[in-house]
Amino acid sequence: MAFPEAWMRELMSKNDIVSVISESVQLTPKGSRLWGHCPFHADRSPSFSVSPDKQLFHCFSCKAGGSVIQFVMQSENLSFADAVRRLAQRAGMDMPEEIDDSRLLAQKHRRERIYEANREAALYYNSLLFSKEGGAAQRYLDARGVTAETAKRFGLGFSPDGFDKLSRHLIEKGFSERTLIDAGLAVKGRKDPSKIYDFFRGRLMFPVINAMGKVIAFGGRTMGHDEPKYINTGDTPVYNKRENIYAINLLKGKKLDDIIMVEGYMDVISLHQRGIDNAVASLGTALTNQQARLIKRYVSKVYYAYDGDEAGQKAMLRGIDILRSSEIEPRVIVIPGGRDPDEFIKEFGPDEFLTLKDASITGVRFKIERLAAEHGLDTPDGRERFAREACRLLSGFDPVERDRYIPLVAEKSGLSPATVREQCGSASASASVSSKPHTGYASYRPPKQDTERLGFEKKLLACMMTSPEAGLNTAKLNGFSPMLFSSEQLRTFALKLLAAYRTGGSPDISLMIAELEPAEAEEAAAAYQESGDIASPMRAAADIIKCIRIAELKTKLTELSQGLSECRDEAQKKELTREYRECFSELQALIKGRKQ
Ligand code: UTP
Ligand code: MN
Repeated sequence: MAFPEAWMRELMSKNDIVSVISESVQLTPKGSRLWGHCPFHADRSPSFSVSPDKQLFHCFSCKAGGSVIQFVMQSENLSFADAVRRLAQRAGMDMPEEIDDSRLLAQKHRRERIYEANREAALYYNSLLFSKEGGAAQRYLDARGVTAETAKRFGLGFSPDGFDKLSRHLIEKGFSERTLIDAGLAVKGRKDPSKIYDFFRGRLMFPVINAMGKVIAFGGRTMGHDEPKYINTGDTPVYNKRENIYAINLLKGKKLDDIIMVEGYMDVISLHQRGIDNAVASLGTALTNQQARLIKRYVSKVYYAYDGDEAGQKAMLRGIDILRSSEIEPRVIVIPGGRDPDEFIKEFGPDEFLTLKDASITGVRFKIERLAAEHGLDTPDGRERFAREACRLLSGFDPVERDRYIPLVAEKSGLSPATVREQCGSASASASVSSKPHTGYASYRPPKQDTERLGFEKKLLACMMTSPEAGLNTAKLNGFSPMLFSSEQLRTFALKLLAAYRTGGSPDISLMIAELEPAEAEEAAAAYQESGDIASPMRAAADIIKCIRIAELKTKLTELSQGLSECRDEAQKKELTREYRECFSELQALIKGRKQ
């Protein structure tokens, strides 16, 4: 969605950020900014700042930030377009005809074609499953207890074992090779790149369908024992596995109290078939913040039922934190005997599964149990280490929640509840973690991790924003490249900024920021705010470029030394050593250069 630039400028000027934010946050001027309590987290001291001159907000504590548009998006949980609409209403402006510039239009068209190709592919795989050619796949499903009705509900299919059967089918239907490759349905031949072949061959197919009902990706399972067991569509213009959830399409229109999060395609299918129709899967990875946000639209309670293996348990530990920070209550269903949900429900039936669900434990309890298992409670040492770790965990909670778990930790460690409580208190003083936020706002955003790299990138962007000269000169520095920005959005942002500087204009930076996705808007806004404090941007920029290179070299050296310790081949060893020396001397030179 794009709006005409002149109209957007008017919108921004008629919605002064100070007056918009003042409607919900009390602001007090101090220095060049106004300060208040951040509405996005429980803010004890005012760490939320608004710059009237830059028309941006930034919270120094939770790092939320951006333009007036992001403020409205985040505080009212609106999309970009709806936030714009809200602000237009506020300013008494009519909505313009929505314009689509040709580049956006082309992108949109490309995405549409990918959706269509995916849909055709799903239909093709599905019809094949129920044809003679799909006999083996039907028998496989049969053997696993999947009914034909279930296979239909999930749109399961079979990808033919030929070289390019699907590709030829789709090309006949008018799709271009490029669309097939973009969609991840076909790949270029390794030997002969003028040929394409099907990505999925001879596999049982699971279409991934988004909440809008569009087919966005596929998983394909081998029906034998070859590796890998599953292959999946990689990232495409319509699909990113970190942002999607398998079977989310089946949640629509249901009245849900909670959902059950499982690891695999087959777990979801098996539970649904037996009447547990609120199961979804996170597509093989640990849960991400984006997935949590998606879940939050449906429920605020998630039951984890991951596999009992180490990988599954670790993924749950991380997922629990992510859910909690998205204000979703995590619970854990413990499945006995190392079975996965599919295996369990097939053996014992849905009622037994629901019994396990009733006996589920809270996410926190699960973490405490894990700590106990990790340290072992058989020895005084183990119990002590367990108690310390558990108290450190509890010290991050608000007192009410903490109190709930003190008896558990006391019981397990053999300490008195009073001792545990005291230990939690002193751990909390040293950890200085704030309590869980409770605000009237729909979308609480957890503080983001500020990794070292991101810090460098932000600083570099800040240097480029101090002035057009600084920006243009930074681009000429040794080692500068847009690739220094690891996110595509910030990279594009930097390029746009440079392009604007080149034309000699002074770009409307807050408008540019307004058009970014929330996460990137945050970074860019923080950078813009920092830019005012940078005295010599060129020196700073040159230094940051070196810092990034140093970090890259350090990572590379670690990898190389690992490679060396594992390498058995003499010639290869020599090559690795040479590379190691090269990296090492570059690193030394850089470090020396920085000290001078
Ligand atoms: P599992 O190995 O637990 O498989 O992987 P599963 O779901 O129990 O599958 P079945 O029962 O053997 O058919 C869990 C999930 O991890 C992803 C898939 O999404 C799978 O459902 N995965 C697993 C892959 O993407 N690739 C693999 O090679 C293995
Ligand atoms: Mn399984």
